[in-house]
Amino acid sequence: MSGPGNRAQWASNLGFLLAAAGSAVGLGNIWKFPGKAYEGGGGAFILIYIAIIALVGATVMLAEFIIGRATQKNAVGAFCQLRPAWKWVGGMGIFTGFIILCYYSHVGGWVLYYLCGYLTDAAAISADPTAYFYRMLGVGSGFPWGGAVLFPLLFAALTVFVVVKGVAGGIERLNKVAMPLLFLLLILLMVRAVTLPGAMDGLRYMLQPDFSLLTWNDVLVALGQAFFSLSLGMGIMCTYGSYLSREENLGRNVGIICTLDTLVAVLAGFTVIPAVFATLSASGVGKGAGFVFTAMPGVFQAMPGGVFWAILFYLLLFFAALTSSISLLEGTVAYLTEQRGFSRKRASLVLGVILFGIGLIYTLSQGHADIHGIWLDKNGISYPIFGDMLEFLTDRLLLPLGGLLFCIFVGWVWGTKNGIAEVRQGGRFRFPLAGLWSLLVRFVAPAAIACILIAGIVFGVTLS
Ligand code: PHE
Repeated sequence: MSGPGNRAQWASNLGFLLAAAGSAVGLGNIWKFPGKAYEGGGGAFILIYIAIIALVGATVMLAEFIIGRATQKNAVGAFCQLRPAWKWVGGMGIFTGFIILCYYSHVGGWVLYYLCGYLTDAAAISADPTAYFYRMLGVGSGFPWGGAVLFPLLFAALTVFVVVKGVAGGIERLNKVAMPLLFLLLILLMVRAVTLPGAMDGLRYMLQPDFSLLTWNDVLVALGQAFFSLSLGMGIMCTYGSYLSREENLGRNVGIICTLDTLVAVLAGFTVIPAVFATLSASGVGKGAGFVFTAMPGVFQAMPGGVFWAILFYLLLFFAALTSSISLLEGTVAYLTEQRGFSRKRASLVLGVILFGIGLIYTLSQGHADIHGIWLDKNGISYPIFGDMLEFLTDRLLLPLGGLLFCIFVGWVWGTKNGIAEVRQGGRFRFPLAGLWSLLVRFVAPAAIACILIAGIVFGVTLS
């Protein structure tokens, strides 16, 4: 469906809601959040995280939606229209999103690899999950065709396919099916996990706030996680908001999307942690991509009917990753089509090829020292430098910086008065929290984000 001036628009508010929630709910919620919540003292971390989402996350999300819908343009076009001197902020956001997409889509390919692995030869994974993971990456074995080329290529092709189909015809249609399915799968898995014998200890840990385990570093981790999880700081929500008609209530949409995203993260925490406690003991909890690919197979192996539950779990991860990666691609495609005159198809295909190429180096750098020259050796553990670099650049630097600049722009440059008027639409919608939002977007959110940035750069606090 096309909007005024033939610009793409969501066919319905529900479609927009599901697409924005689809962007937010991703790998970050399912593998990053549970491990971080565990380390931060379970319930204590969850409470802090919810407070941060409500105060900082929702504030920045509304700021992005406002700019997008007010201008009906992609991230660069929006700044060009409002204050051209700021267009580089949009450009930086688009660059950040694209870099994240390069490695995100490869991890999506790994998820497909596991999904196929469980469907065809589950015994090979169960026999030695860690060895299987390294084999996928080609560590100590031959060139990893499946893990580095075939499955990531398939995942990238699916992402490109959906984006080529357009905003309403591709992105909205996929999300309308994938998101309800994702919720259903998550509920099924959670019921299974908490009814495992021994799971109650894990659940208790996640529900009882133990503030003695929570450190200042955990608060910063929660802040960084909130940003990544809500897809903020790179103009993606600006672009998604730009396809929304003025008949819709922005404030209410922000409330619903933030609630859905947080709900999925918390439910994933209530699923993964009890399952690990029940099957592997508390010491099995880890974080990062390796956790999902090495510890979870151990959980499924120890569970009756494990292969079935594993298939559901990787299917859940697949939907979560796909709906997020299409939003990452759409941010850049919107820029190329609207600012640079590309057709949607050409933009998506060209970007698809580039992202696959960069992602390939990312995957290979996990296992092949010769790709990047040297390994960084920290406490006897080798870290792939290229992958580290990408994640450091985006998660720790560019993403919070983008969010900070969005806040400063809306709070101080363009002005909260304009922002509030965009939400109210000449009195069509009430915005009872307008005063609070102004305060948050001008002072609280920028201060909080500056803390993440400074802590990350100066003190080297690990936020991912
Ligand atoms: N929010 C997604 C997740 O939690 C990741 C993402 C980041 C998607 C940035 C789009 C933009 O996995």
